[in-house]
Amino acid sequence: MLLWPSVWVLVALGARLAQSQSLDEADYTPIVVPLAVRSPYLGAYLQGRQHKRLSTSDPRFWTTTPLGWKGLLRVDGKTWTWMGNATDYPPALNASFVHTTAGSKFVLTDDPPTVSIEANFVSPVTPADLFRQSVPFSYLDLTVASLDARAHSVQVYTELDGLWLADNEGDEIEWESKGEPDWRGIRFRLKDQRPFEEEQIEKGWTADRILSGDVWYAARASKAHVETSFAAGDDAATTRRTFATDGSLANRSNHTAPRTTRTRDSMDASRILDEPVFAFAHDFGSVSTATSREARSQLVTIGHVRDPLVQYMTRGNETVPLRPLWRSTFPTVERLISFFLGDYANAVEMSAAYNKKLYADARKVDGQEYAHVVSISTRQVFAALEAVWDESDEASSTAATGLLAYSPLTGQPIPTMVMLKEVSSNGNCGTVDVLAPFLPFMLYASPSLIPLLLEPTLRYAATGLYAPIPPPHDIGDHYPACIGHNDFLYPGLPIEEAGNMLNMVLAGMRSADAEPYHALLARPRHWFDEKRGQLARAVGWHALVGGGGRDHRREGARASVVQAANHYELLKTWADYLVDESLFPRTQIFGPAPNQTSLVIKGITGIRSMSEIAADLGNVQDSIHYRQRADAMRDRFLELAVAADGTHLVGQYGNDSSWMTHYNLYYDKLLTDRTDRQFPEFVYDMQDAFYPTVAQPFGPPLDSRFPARAKTDWLLWAAGAASPNSRARRVLVDSVARYFRADKNAVFGDAITPGEGWSVGFLTRPVAGGHYSLLALDVLADERNRRRAARAEWRSRDAFVVAVAVAVAVVGVVGVRQCRRRHLAEKGYREVLGTARTFGRRFSSGRGRRRGGGEEAIWLAETPEQGGSVFDLGGFGDDDDEDDDEADGTEEEEWAKRRIGRRSSSIG
Ligand SMILES: *[C@@H]1O[C@H](CO)[C@@H](O)[C@H](O)[C@H]1NC(C)=O
Ligand SMILES: *[C@@H]1O[C@H](CO)[C@@H](O)[C@H](O)[C@H]1NC(C)=O
Ligand SMILES: *[C@@H]1O[C@H](CO)[C@@H](O)[C@H](O)[C@H]1NC(C)=O
Ligand SMILES: *[C@@H]1O[C@H](CO)[C@@H](O)[C@H](O)[C@H]1NC(C)=O
Ligand SMILES: *[C@@H]1O[C@H](CO)[C@@H](O)[C@H](O)[C@H]1NC(C)=O
Repeated sequence: MLLWPSVWVLVALGARLAQSQSLDEADYTPIVVPLAVRSPYLGAYLQGRQHKRLSTSDPRFWTTTPLGWKGLLRVDGKTWTWMGNATDYPPALNASFVHTTAGSKFVLTDDPPTVSIEANFVSPVTPADLFRQSVPFSYLDLTVASLDARAHSVQVYTELDGLWLADNEGDEIEWESKGEPDWRGIRFRLKDQRPFEEEQIEKGWTADRILSGDVWYAARASKAHVETSFAAGDDAATTRRTFATDGSLANRSNHTAPRTTRTRDSMDASRILDEPVFAFAHDFGSVSTATSREARSQLVTIGHVRDPLVQYMTRGNETVPLRPLWRSTFPTVERLISFFLGDYANAVEMSAAYNKKLYADARKVDGQEYAHVVSISTRQVFAALEAVWDESDEASSTAATGLLAYSPLTGQPIPTMVMLKEVSSNGNCGTVDVLAPFLPFMLYASPSLIPLLLEPTLRYAATGLYAPIPPPHDIGDHYPACIGHNDFLYPGLPIEEAGNMLNMVLAGMRSADAEPYHALLARPRHWFDEKRGQLARAVGWHALVGGGGRDHRREGARASVVQAANHYELLKTWADYLVDESLFPRTQIFGPAPNQTSLVIKGITGIRSMSEIAADLGNVQDSIHYRQRADAMRDRFLELAVAADGTHLVGQYGNDSSWMTHYNLYYDKLLTDRTDRQFPEFVYDMQDAFYPTVAQPFGPPLDSRFPARAKTDWLLWAAGAASPNSRARRVLVDSVARYFRADKNAVFGDAITPGEGWSVGFLTRPVAGGHYSLLALDVLADERNRRRAARAEWRSRDAFVVAVAVAVAVVGVVGVRQCRRRHLAEKGYREVLGTARTFGRRFSSGRGRRRGGGEEAIWLAETPEQGGSVFDLGGFGDDDDEDDDEADGTEEEEWAKRRIGRRSSSIG
């Protein structure tokens, strides 16, 4: 009986692995298992219902169509299938599986087990380092081991086919092999390259596969004499047979090209006659327990590369191609691959640091199940994003005003934007209401993403080519054609998008402790340790590098502040739109109906955010104005929206039996301090008591009109709006955690049935980043506390300086002032005068009062040319001692001015 020994070895192996893993991940098989997930066009998963078995199922693209990725293991001349449905060879045994935020690690064995293969699929998660994150490659790290005391002859084989390029088996493909000193690779592509175009299934309906670009498959040269051989373009069955017979491949590229991805028998379509594949074989020779790990390991990488990535609409109404971010630093794909393979240890270390931090934080705010939810959700965000190198005129490459990523090689800033594909629900580019749901992820992990993702929309709206006032729903009907909507006057979801944009801009500005601003503006050195003259290796969550305490969080906040200043007037038009339109919203899509209260809350929070943006930029008048509007609207809303029995906020005015899962209240909890919320505590208490009464096993429905639909992102936003210890929060978080354990689903989607927990579309969308809602609350609260502490410190430290300054001002440097005025006016700046008498009680509630009236002078850029902004004001920084009104101002005003002063003085 061979059964007993094999069970024993598996148990022993499992125990060994369990020991080496922390408690965090050991008990979790996610709803789908990510294998290579890096971009909209590189997304391979192990799907399937209860049986997610690597050794019998083909990996699939996120749309569920199969991808040819097969693996064989040859032990002492006998061959097993360890990956994919390769029915000619028996399946290997699955010994264990461990999921982390970046990796899916399988261990499989022959049967009975004598040799194991560990297949570690790593799609690095380095949200602090957008450059690394945007490289469109993923790793497969293979390690074999002898499980008994004997030596075994071991070879491992993997293969890809043309289905990595497109679904259509009739497409012609071509290939070539590439030899570099440090790696061996194969490149294959569609013969007919159609840039910026996705494969059509029928008119207006795409397969989500891109018809341009190259798939690369590359194996790192082994330092320990692991022999790698390859075969490119031979038929699949032939190639596998060669491996099974010889344990190696012929190192040859088949010249009968191009050929179609698959040729089927015309009599019997189930028979595949020819299928060119791209394969590696790694010969580990004789493997015993004494063999070093290096001599038992082989690293391969798979990538889908396009250059350029997207088309974009510019100021001059021209369509320009934008290139990938990596292209700014690496002149060729070959160089990029060398970097990526060489960077493996770094990528793993950074990903592990992130995983560890994420689990610790998530466990702290809620618990282990919540940690699993955010972990599996993480890769989905980046799967929808592509970072572009912004070579346009509008870009600014200076660290002070630019939107940047940083080269991991040199630490140099690179002008950058990030593009989003609205996967699954729709192929739009840069959809605002898809960006907003994953704001919590960005706040927690990658604040720089906020300005970088908003910039394409802001810049497009600023061209004036788009006619409606509120922001566009998206900047292109179908990715990767992000060419705007110049002929498209229907604004889509105007209140939704206007509210989202304002809330996101403010969130970006508040994403890091914004003091001291001079540190913000000095060039951050995130990944280059100048003191040691080398790359800083440990880039974790805070990414503190270079000894100056600079980190990617502050960098995100800095870029957001610059961006808000550049687009300030545009933001105001959106706020004005909300003031006019959002108390009684007209009918909009998402269950058309007028007067939907969820939209009103979005509008109110958006207007309040405009007030805060204005305050942070020192525009006191605007701040007061919008705060008053937001408050008045809130008061009227509460008169209309509370059900007569006081149990809940209605879903539509005048219908007491209607209700919503009010996810938009999360913005209020996220962006304001406990003492200064836009909505009163009774609203939150009421909703906390209400949700459990309408919850089904997988949460309350989103909208009483559609009892069979919930959204996982909105469930966790609502959990973020609930009180930490409330039953509502428990019910909401548990619902989502339960769904992520419901392995009856073959796919990972954010639309679910609250009764049964079925996934019903909206697959693998980045909105899964919204599951970070609880973590983001903590991050912003911390930043607010830091800010308050900094303010207190400033108050005491600078009291003396201020007193002297005031004295100097009182003596009167009127001449200097006039001079400066003229100078500024010449540079195209406009002096805006207004009285601060209207300065509201509410605005300064609890933070001191204005003691008297007076004039405020606020300098605004008339026409911000060339990315200019209020921050370009040379010398504005010493306005402190120029403005004799300052002593009269509230603390709030002084603070705002002081910060502006610091910002500009460090530029000037
Ligand atoms: C594997 O492939 C065979 C033949 O190609 C097919 O009949 C079978 O259904 C496939 N199995 C899975 C799990 O996809
Ligand atoms: C593989 O086996 C392990 C251990 O038996 C099990 O926990 C896991 O669910 C299996 N994984 C997959 C993906 O089938
Ligand atoms: C190349 O592939 C074709 C189609 O599978 C096959 O007929 C031919 O024999 C192959 N060439 C070589 C040299 O193996
Ligand atoms: C919206 O609600 C207000 C207040 O209840 C009502 O006066 C108005 O008629 C409603 N609008 C529509 C289009 O039903
Ligand atoms: C009131 O709301 C309920 C629940 O959403 C809905 O079924 C009903 O049709 C609504 N009534 C009106 C008049 O719209």
